[in-house]
Amino acid sequence: MKLFVIGATGRTGLEIVQQAPARGHHVTAFVRSPESITLRNERLTVLKGNAIDENQLFKAMQSHDAVLSALGPREVFKPSSLLYDSAFATTRAMKRSGVERLVVLSAAAHFPGIPNRIVSFILRNHMRDSLRMEEVVQNSGLDWTIARPPRLTEQDYTTYRSREDAAPKMGFSLSRKAVAAFMLDAIEQKKHFHKIVGIAK
Ligand SMILES: NC(=O)c1ccc[n+]([C@@H]2O[C@H](COP(=O)([O-])OP(=O)(O)OC[C@H]3O[C@@H](n4cnc5c(N)ncnc54)[C@H](OP(=O)(O)O)[C@@H]3O)[C@@H](O)[C@H]2O)c1
Repeated sequence: MKLFVIGATGRTGLEIVQQAPARGHHVTAFVRSPESITLRNERLTVLKGNAIDENQLFKAMQSHDAVLSALGPREVFKPSSLLYDSAFATTRAMKRSGVERLVVLSAAAHFPGIPNRIVSFILRNHMRDSLRMEEVVQNSGLDWTIARPPRLTEQDYTTYRSREDAAPKMGFSLSRKAVAAFMLDAIEQKKHFHKIVGIAK
């Protein structure tokens, strides 16, 4: 498949960019700083662009099969509308270009429960933006999947548990490698259409 990745220079995004070509996919990494991607692969194309610019996204994503977003603010405590703005621009660009499949990264803190409420309060600026992003995605009319992991780690495994509309029980962390694997599995296996999916170790 031909995959279009937003947030490809991030810690999770880089995992997607590494794993996808190894699975036989062609990847376009749409990034603001191409020099951040030192990986070289004949199936990887790095394009410089603005993740909130609908027209740039539209031109760049032509003829792709799916879009994956692992975007996140570099400063989580500051007010930001990055995720909302990017979701708005991305979903409109997808509708215009006929790309229907979208898998985005969100956060388990949106699930109910007291620990999640505490995290949501501490990270309230980021969580507000993330929830608004989810709303845009859910109302997009696209074939979307929203992945909600708990705390992300740099551990070296790609397995995960997943549960639609809820967090997996006692799942407190997940490796970024496993998040990438889940996002790619959802696309390859045509699973979790129009679903929020809790994922965890
Ligand atoms: N950290 C956790 O424990 C945790 C837990 C659950 C969910 N999540 C979610 O997972 C997502 C990804 O996390 P991560 O740790 O992999 O992210 P990360 O390493 O911080 O990477 C963030 C990505 O977003 C890009 N980005 C940030 N601001 C941008 C802007 N203004 N314009 C264009 N691109 C921009 C960065 O590009 P540059 O390289 O150019 O800066 C980078 O590619 C986040 O949205 C977060 O909510 C995180």
